[in-house]
Amino acid sequence: MTTSKKLLRALAGETLDTPPIWMMRQAGRYLPEYRATRAQAGDFLKLCYNPELAAEVTLQPIRRYGFDAAILFADILLLPQALGADLWFVTGEGPRLSIISDQSGVDALGSVDNIHETLNPIYETVRILRKELPEETTLIGFAGAPWTVATYMIAGRGTPDQAPAHAMRVGAPEAFDALMERITLGTIEYLSKQIDAGAEVVKIFDSWAGSLKGEAFDKYAIEPTRQIIAALKVRHPNTPIIAFPREGGDKYIGFAKATGADCVALDNSVDAAWAAQHVQVDGCVQGNLASRHMVTGGQDLIDDTRAIVKAFSKGPHIFNLGHGITPDADPENVQLMIDTVRNG
Ligand code: CP3
Repeated sequence: MTTSKKLLRALAGETLDTPPIWMMRQAGRYLPEYRATRAQAGDFLKLCYNPELAAEVTLQPIRRYGFDAAILFADILLLPQALGADLWFVTGEGPRLSIISDQSGVDALGSVDNIHETLNPIYETVRILRKELPEETTLIGFAGAPWTVATYMIAGRGTPDQAPAHAMRVGAPEAFDALMERITLGTIEYLSKQIDAGAEVVKIFDSWAGSLKGEAFDKYAIEPTRQIIAALKVRHPNTPIIAFPREGGDKYIGFAKATGADCVALDNSVDAAWAAQHVQVDGCVQGNLASRHMVTGGQDLIDDTRAIVKAFSKGPHIFNLGHGITPDADPENVQLMIDTVRNG
């Protein structure tokens, strides 16, 4: 495959003079134009399900900064909603879902075959974006990894330590495995449809992978991600896949090989020189600038940005933050980061 798109070249294993750049949560509350469009839509979920406006907020950071990739505007919790969970967002607090704690809760979920009725607007957003994005910009689709999605479905909200999900996987392993399987199958269908609609890359977010240790990490972070990637590679062999086992620590070693991912996204707790030696040896890596620099800026931002670019300069690398940009970030610091990556 020959392409001029920098992101796809890095994902194919090419070492580029300057890495392609995009940012997790690049369409978000730190941008006044995002806040205006969200107000026009009514609220966050209405924005996700409005293809014209979701495409508009996806395009806003591309227009402002010329990132090398756009990420579909949606959320990892739309899949649970499509499976039949209730979902709502409490302003200033975060997501709330109906709670699943046993087999009857899993049985009450809808069939994977029916998720597209709810998710069709998301595929429409993808189709609009493929028409409207600049030629050089890569479109990334995404979903949550089963463990992370399950933590929200079991607790009914975000949790600092994922305790309810850990309690269920230990106390009711059969029901827990049934839930994981339903999410895994739904994720395969959801991502496959995003690719059919025009997503050129997909990313699997395992934001809470770091709370799984040892064998539990292998069973609930690696194995479901491996299953999703294996199924997608049969249907879409040329679509690269980025996996993000956040806070995976030394479990980052060998993660790409174990799951079949084309690229592993690094949080900012791992040292870049260590990751170059132990993770980038297996292929492309993405990350790992601390999001706080987008709030504080200055020489510290420049120094850390340069250090990360340098550490990963001998192999394929996509520049990104270690986690999402926060609402209190200053849009000018984003420009400073981009200028530093592109101009040295
Ligand atoms: O720009 C992009 O990155 C694309 C869109 C995107 C969103 N969420 C939009 C969003 C993506 C890729 C996600 C992924 C996501 N959603 C994850 C995995 C990545 C991560 O952050 O660890 C998770 C865990 C979620 C679930 C979720 N969605 C939570 C916990 C919250 C509340 C916390 C918060 O930041 O407010 C959301 C809301 C959400 N998703 C917002 C956005 C822009 C903010 C909502 C708003 O505008 O009011």
